Amino acid sequence: MRTLLSAEQLDSGIARLAEAVRADVGRRPLTVVGVLTGSIVVVADLIRRLDGPICVGMVWASSYRGSATRPGELDLRLDLLPDIAGQEVLLVDDIFDSGRTLKALVTELQRRGAARVQSLVLLRKLGRAEVTLEPEYVGFDIPDEFVVGYGLDFNGGFRHLPYLAALDPDDIEAIRGAAPDVASNR
Ligand code: IMP
Ligand code: MG
Repeated sequence: MRTLLSAEQLDSGIARLAEAVRADVGRRPLTVVGVLTGSIVVVADLIRRLDGPICVGMVWASSYRGSATRPGELDLRLDLLPDIAGQEVLLVDDIFDSGRTLKALVTELQRRGAARVQSLVLLRKLGRAEVTLEPEYVGFDIPDEFVVGYGLDFNGGFRHLPYLAALDPDDIEAIRGAAPDVASNR
């Protein structure tokens, strides 16, 4: 496992993102919608830096199964979402990979009557986009590698790491050999 971004680098990335959001949104009320489960750490750190009136809601999305490192079918659940009609919404996710998760969620939030939907991701994997949507706020561009930590998991583990690490193929094989697949909720 190789460290890609240290806790300090992630912290300054979050500060930069919060500043960019407030520069655009000003003091207007903002509903932050996090995508469970991978965004929990980004949301927790970001909202504490977003000065001003804020509501927080969560939705759930999953496109990976167990120890897969390439996405499968997209599964969305929005039953935890508060009423966002007429609200200015910031959709927050851990990583923009193919972009299919954010694209589907932005469409759904618009359909529910949000006045405006912007999206923010901590990470964007280079060369992987399959949609035309571009997130308004991107913390870091990273190479096309499977990453864990700071909320991101592999087969349910590693979300608690305070830094971001890339898993090499050897790491992935070793972890696959050691533990059965869990029902993923990335
Ligand atoms: P997308 O729909 O392909 O953009 O996939 C985005 C979702 O896949 C993110 O919300 C993550 O939860 C998950 N994901 C994509 N790449 C990685 C990775 O390298 N590590 C862990 N999770 C990932
Ligand atoms: Mg996710």
